[in-house]
Amino acid sequence: MNGLRSVGILGTGSYTPEKVLTNADLEKMVETSDEWIVSRTGIRERRICSPEEASSDLAFEAAKKALKKAKISAEQLDMIIVATVTPDTMFPSTACILQEKLGASKASALDVSAACTGFLYGVATGTQFIANGLYRYVLVIGVETLSKITNYKDRNTCVLFGDGAGAAVLGPVAEGSGFQSFDLGADGSGGQLLSQPAGGSRMPATAETVANNLHYLTMAGSEVFKFAVRVMNSATETVLEKAGVDKEEIDLLVPHQANLRIIDSAIKRFGLSEDKVAINLDRYGNMSSASIPVALDEAVEAGRVKDGDTVVLVGFGGGLTWGATLLRWNTTEA
Ligand code: ACO
Repeated sequence: MNGLRSVGILGTGSYTPEKVLTNADLEKMVETSDEWIVSRTGIRERRICSPEEASSDLAFEAAKKALKKAKISAEQLDMIIVATVTPDTMFPSTACILQEKLGASKASALDVSAACTGFLYGVATGTQFIANGLYRYVLVIGVETLSKITNYKDRNTCVLFGDGAGAAVLGPVAEGSGFQSFDLGADGSGGQLLSQPAGGSRMPATAETVANNLHYLTMAGSEVFKFAVRVMNSATETVLEKAGVDKEEIDLLVPHQANLRIIDSAIKRFGLSEDKVAINLDRYGNMSSASIPVALDEAVEAGRVKDGDTVVLVGFGGGLTWGATLLRWNTTEA
């Protein structure tokens, strides 16, 4: 990183709620079928949090596991970044709520809003603070309770989303390892393709906005689909090029988990065998900012990532936004 301190992921963790919502359950709720959902998306089931659970509760569970694996305590954290579009409240931030739950009294705390790309925006942000020497340990979480803003009468969206949290502890690693390159981007002109129309200062919550279902997530699926295929490939190419790495060197690609057909296009484009791609959307659906860190943590737990491996994380989402990073895996603190 241009003479700056090298930064890597020291530990990962994830948490998904116990309750499973299957395609068969959804068949009873809206006019859809298991066959349609599996063939159009690849999703078979998703996890749904309880009415009492909020995003910070899921984040707390994932964070504890990541801290344990990184072998550091919450008190050692310098910063907490929570990526979410389903915060506990508009403010205080979910990161501040989590800071208190963890007892991370030394840590600064902020939320990042970049929808499904949020975890990558958070990782890129946290990395800068460690690379320039200001901080040593940054906890980055992608967490969503999308079930809370999903309209379970709208078949266009309700079959797609699930709840979960994934976490990563960032810290200094041996020179030359860890994050090699980043690509972050945004195209605000496509903002309306994926949004939660009401509840902000443009359209504050009223009885009318609630009656008109304006607090639910809306999406123009096929437009987002085309954008997703384009940017997932271009962002991956950009981080490979910036790091001077060939596509043949990728050991593990962890893509955002929105649709198996989008992931398949990347598999074809980069000539990857399936064992080099982390896929979990069949079990969790699209967990927005939580998808990448949960898939990464599951790959680590399954022993699919070892030191020295070349790992690419890539995502896209509301905003519109996209992002990718390439890292030489190394969990040993320097
Ligand atoms: N069951 C049965 N039929 C359905 C369902 C359903 N659950 N949902 C939609 N359909 C119907 C539509 O009504 C439409 O019918 P019509 O032709 O009679 O109008 C038909 O299926 C085809 O709809 P399309 O939208 O063209 O289907 P498509 O193949 O594009 O698949 C999907 C839709 C799965 C949403 C896809 O477009 C997609 O995955 N888009 C990308 C989503 C994404 O990547 N989101 C990213 C980020 S999310 C975030 O940031 C929070």
